[in-house]
Amino acid sequence: MNTENQKKIAAEKATESIRSGMVVGLGTGSTVYYALLKLGAMVREGLDIVGIPTSAGTEKIAIAEQIPLATLATHPTLDLTIDGADEVDKDLNLIKGGGAALVREKIIANTSKKILIVVDESKVSRVLGTTFPLPVEIVRFGWEATQTEVNRICGESTLRLAPAQDGNQHPLITDNGNYILDCHFDGIPAPKEIELRLNNIPGVVENGIFVNRADKIIIGTSSGIRYMG
Ligand code: A5P
Repeated sequence: MNTENQKKIAAEKATESIRSGMVVGLGTGSTVYYALLKLGAMVREGLDIVGIPTSAGTEKIAIAEQIPLATLATHPTLDLTIDGADEVDKDLNLIKGGGAALVREKIIANTSKKILIVVDESKVSRVLGTTFPLPVEIVRFGWEATQTEVNRICGESTLRLAPAQDGNQHPLITDNGNYILDCHFDGIPAPKEIELRLNNIPGVVENGIFVNRADKIIIGTSSGIRYMG
């Protein structure tokens, strides 16, 4: 089974946990995309849920799929969230933020009773921080100074760029109006400590380390579905 199909079977498996009446956190990324398509079909067949999206991109897809949406203002507690990840370890620690949605994803994770993470098998890692650079969202003001402080912890980071309308690469601006630093660790053996140290730097909004957040990781593999948690 190829990677795309691995993403699809994991995402669709997660939607089997959704029941009418639930408030559902809608994650971001190419894996969750398949869950959104499936949920859209389920809603059109009568499933009665409201979703809270973790990014403008997900919001757009959910609207196209006719999934009713709400906000944390009216629905402060979520029953279940389905989200992706960029790297996962055997202790269910995650690196997220490859899609630049880590701040909203962490807020949603913090308000969810249950979190299902959907990934393909390439995301499983022995030591967190060895296969994917850690995204850190920072405010634009004084970002160079913030980067210097971040680098004291990770060694090296790069400002994430994205193509703009003029055809050139410009700093990527998140849904929250901030920049992203991608931090190149040589492994993160103590993820909680690094999460807290990074978030203690003035100018850092949030980072993509998620510890003790996922209840279950659903992994699409070449030979079917596997679970962690
Ligand atoms: C979004 O910011 C991320 O946390 C995504 O959940 C993560 O990047 C996984 O995305 P893919 O499913 O596209 O790999």
